Amino acid sequence: MCGIVGYIGNKNAYPIIINGLKRLEYRGYDSAGFIVNAGKFVHTKTKGKVSDLEEKASEEASQSIESCYGMGHTRWATHGVPNNVNSHPHLSNSGKIAIVHNGIIENYLSIKRRLQQEGFTFHSDTDTEVLVNFIEFLKDKEQVPLETAVRYALNEVIGAYAIAVMEEANPTKMVVARLGSPLVVGIGEGEFFIASDASPFIEYTQNALYLEDGEMAVIKLNQPIDVRKIHNNEEVTPSVQELKLSLDAIEKGGYEHFMIKEIFEQPQSIQDTMRGRLLEDFSTKLSGIENNLKQFLSAERIIIVACGTSWHAGQVGEYLLEELARIPVEVEYASEFRYRNPVIHPGDIVIAISQSGETADTLAALKLAKEKGAFIYGICNVVGSSIARLTDSGTYTHAGPEIGVASTKAFTTQLTVLTLLALHLGYRKGTLDHHSYKKLCQQLSHIPELVAQTLEMTKDKVIEIAQEYKDVNNCIYLGRGLNFPVALEGALKLKEISYIHAEGYPAAEMKHGPIALIDENMPVVFLAPSKGHYEKVVSNAQEIKARKGKIIAIVTQGDKQMTDIADHSLEIPEVDELFSPILSVIPLQLLSYHIAIMRGCNVDQPRNLAKSVTVE
Ligand code: G6P
Repeated sequence: MCGIVGYIGNKNAYPIIINGLKRLEYRGYDSAGFIVNAGKFVHTKTKGKVSDLEEKASEEASQSIESCYGMGHTRWATHGVPNNVNSHPHLSNSGKIAIVHNGIIENYLSIKRRLQQEGFTFHSDTDTEVLVNFIEFLKDKEQVPLETAVRYALNEVIGAYAIAVMEEANPTKMVVARLGSPLVVGIGEGEFFIASDASPFIEYTQNALYLEDGEMAVIKLNQPIDVRKIHNNEEVTPSVQELKLSLDAIEKGGYEHFMIKEIFEQPQSIQDTMRGRLLEDFSTKLSGIENNLKQFLSAERIIIVACGTSWHAGQVGEYLLEELARIPVEVEYASEFRYRNPVIHPGDIVIAISQSGETADTLAALKLAKEKGAFIYGICNVVGSSIARLTDSGTYTHAGPEIGVASTKAFTTQLTVLTLLALHLGYRKGTLDHHSYKKLCQQLSHIPELVAQTLEMTKDKVIEIAQEYKDVNNCIYLGRGLNFPVALEGALKLKEISYIHAEGYPAAEMKHGPIALIDENMPVVFLAPSKGHYEKVVSNAQEIKARKGKIIAIVTQGDKQMTDIADHSLEIPEVDELFSPILSVIPLQLLSYHIAIMRGCNVDQPRNLAKSVTVE
């Protein structure tokens, strides 16, 4: 994780770096730092957020930070606790070379021992400080330019990295490289930007060059960028693409937090996901499937790999695909799948679901599946991301940038893509008849307005409920069928942003353990829409009631039975069971948001988390 940003041009670098770091804070926010070259290196770093860094920099304003060359870092700690010393940038022993690094150097200890024998000393606990000194050691030993020393060093390194390296003696040059962590170069008029994603530079240039894994680039002011393969120094023709990112999409737009903005964006983002894929004649068009139809029609099995919220979307996908397309589906945590020698047949389809398209475990799982001959399909949000580029085919969710660390609109747009996929495949395979296909497509076309209605129907009542339960220590979420993964997602949302311990369970499994936790202090959130196992869920709710648990129920508009049992109910519009997760998750997102706010938590940047997990 971690975010890196850099600038070489003719503008003052410091504000570009600070603003860029703020946009990258979703990647990690336990410490931050920057370095500029104003004839000599000037750097400031600190534990805390980018705002703390700004404060510290203004206190140290005796040093000039006016310079057109510099770089910065916002950290999510891997090696070494978050403190001032472990923050980036790191300098070499001579103080002449500086580095910012996103990733992890696995063999840092052996390199460190080697350097210690050569007389190098270390001040931090980080792997990054080892790397910058290794570069310095090789540069001096071999008497080579910085870029060659970086290449030599990286060829001995095991791990993952996106790095930017500068040397004091050459202010207008920056060397960048990537393996397993993202890095994009923004190419403006007489200026270069480097960053973990394009958000730090979109107001300056829309021309971007995404480095591929195993590539490095030398950036020099007023010269064309030089891209090479790290392992053999072979020159690579740079492929510059034009982005279509707008500044509005990455700003809060009047909302207090990104999370609430993104919750309320869902009607629009789902509409954007369906655009051009759900047609006016109520049919589906998915070129990612059509172009590989034979593969999909003959698939005997689909394996979905993902992490976190995306894994929950995969769980809903299992129900949808099995129900509509009658293809057996397995849903795997990418981190487990990649390390257990999974059985994969050449005819298998492996679908990766990932908002960021950069999650290290999902990426590794896909690489493994590809090696074993599976056809790989991606459902990603970030266009041009590593996972999107690795897949044989795929469908972007087009949710727009998701910045709040707790995923919301990414989840509902992933569900939308999975629904389209299941409908399309079911129809193409003949497991879904023409009439049902058309009817379901028609209903799907109303989902954006039903999501808008759900927001309207629940947004105020959720605040009252949040007020009552904001101080609880535990909470249970229960659901069945398609709404069981929604229970998991609701529990994840609550724990990640409010730090309340929450568990999601299949409602019937409650009897096999969790029911022991029920007393008058335990809130239990039931997913109880009218279609699909409703009566069974009502019985499960009775069991909770009999043990004095407090019940919050998500029910269909006009519900009587569950509403009578529940202490509180939140109504959502009536919808086909297959689409209910897209609606039922909305009040759970709102509930978590308001409880977290009432507890004084930082909802957009919860403690210990990061949005893009590029380390395993
Ligand atoms: C992190 C984020 C989650 C996300 C998960 C998977 O844990 O905090 O919100 O669901 O990574 O990320 P991906 O980008 O692969 O969907």
